[in-house]
Amino acid sequence: MGIQFSVGGYAYLHVGFIFLGVLGFCEAGLTSSYVRNNGLSQDMPLDSDVFKEPPGYNAPQQGHITQGDHEGKGVIVSWITPDEPGSNSVLYWPANSRIKKTAHGVVVKYTYYNYTSGYIHHCTIKNLDYDTKYYYELGAGNVTRQFWFLTPPQPGPDVPYTFGLIGDLGQTYDSNRTLTHYELNPVKGQTLLFVGDLSYADSYPLHDNTRWDTWGRFIERSAAYQPWIWTAGNHEIDFVPEIGETKPFKPYKHRFFIPYKASQSTSPLWYSIKRASAYIIVISSYSAYGKYTPQNKWIENELPKVNRTETPWLIVLMHCPMYSSYVHHYMEGETMRVMYEPWFVQYKVDVVFAGHVHAYERSERISNIRYNVVNGFCTPITDDSAPVYITIGDGGNQEGLVKEMTQPQPEYSAYREASYGHGIFDIKNSTHAYFGWHRNQDGFAVEADSLWFVNRYWKSIEETSVAVK
Ligand SMILES: [Fe+2]
Repeated sequence: MGIQFSVGGYAYLHVGFIFLGVLGFCEAGLTSSYVRNNGLSQDMPLDSDVFKEPPGYNAPQQGHITQGDHEGKGVIVSWITPDEPGSNSVLYWPANSRIKKTAHGVVVKYTYYNYTSGYIHHCTIKNLDYDTKYYYELGAGNVTRQFWFLTPPQPGPDVPYTFGLIGDLGQTYDSNRTLTHYELNPVKGQTLLFVGDLSYADSYPLHDNTRWDTWGRFIERSAAYQPWIWTAGNHEIDFVPEIGETKPFKPYKHRFFIPYKASQSTSPLWYSIKRASAYIIVISSYSAYGKYTPQNKWIENELPKVNRTETPWLIVLMHCPMYSSYVHHYMEGETMRVMYEPWFVQYKVDVVFAGHVHAYERSERISNIRYNVVNGFCTPITDDSAPVYITIGDGGNQEGLVKEMTQPQPEYSAYREASYGHGIFDIKNSTHAYFGWHRNQDGFAVEADSLWFVNRYWKSIEETSVAVK
């Protein structure tokens, strides 16, 4: 046990499994002894306060923002008006100025079986100043709502920046705990990296899309104030030909606009952004990724473009983990691993975050790329150029936790635990970042696993220069 302190009634205990990962692969991995007693979690009822519609006729609701360009000077603001299109403009101004500007967006709408969406607005604000607080206002007439956001610092190697990590959130009482713990974490996440499976509306009969609306209202308290960087999961596919819904990702693509063209992508399901000292590549587990496919071509072209002297931290987000030692979803990420792991090692990706498995797991730095079917080398080995793989699909959705693990724990698995929680990836400078995983523990958020990351690019540069001397 370490230091304990509390913020807003939530205590944070720093329990140390620190440095486990840096001790080396020969150290046995740890399966946490902490076992939650409630695996299944209930959705919050429709009349919960977190789902409340804002007052006033046609009041803008479900506000959320994401990055709107490749560099971090743009923001996409999205919101829904329920009754009529209303204003499609965003009024915005820097906190230290009274000069207000207006950006104009687009409005879209969709139907899903017997559901018709509200008016979904998306407005890209461009050419903002870096590292600046902006207020913005949505709506018109008597019903306007104000929010604010901070733009990131200009991309650069030593820019500190803090990312939150949440996956598979849903809209249960546990989802609310996870989001609350993230908000109350004394280390403040500045941008949330979301690793897929958002609302779980598809768990309801006919994929009841009103549960997309409740989810939009639930996350607004965070997502309207800091960008959520989206990854699509299997619960975003919404492909139900039996009821005539044959367009995969229809609700997701209408509700969430992504700046994919800024990274020369041809689909919002895979794209990249720079943010501060990080370069983030988002890929799609549920789009074709084999050789010759658009996604494969894009990733092949994208990885060599990353300038690690500008953005040393290379982070990949996907939904389905490539390494997971839980029984549920076992091997589902294997074909993507075969395709992309060699590139992740070649380009020294620092960390790969995934969701899908409703639990937490962190790997050692390992690779399994020497296996070529005929040579029999099929066990992952320690690899200093390989990323750490972190599964963080433990947001708290109504499907519950997965508790069954493959036994014994494989050597490559450094830590695993079937609990809900969130992560914080806290970049200190070009060479060091601190990752903490915060378990939801009955009103507390406990840092149950953590690791100091040493940047792969700079580490290899240092080692090369030492070798040359
Ligand atoms: Fe999933």
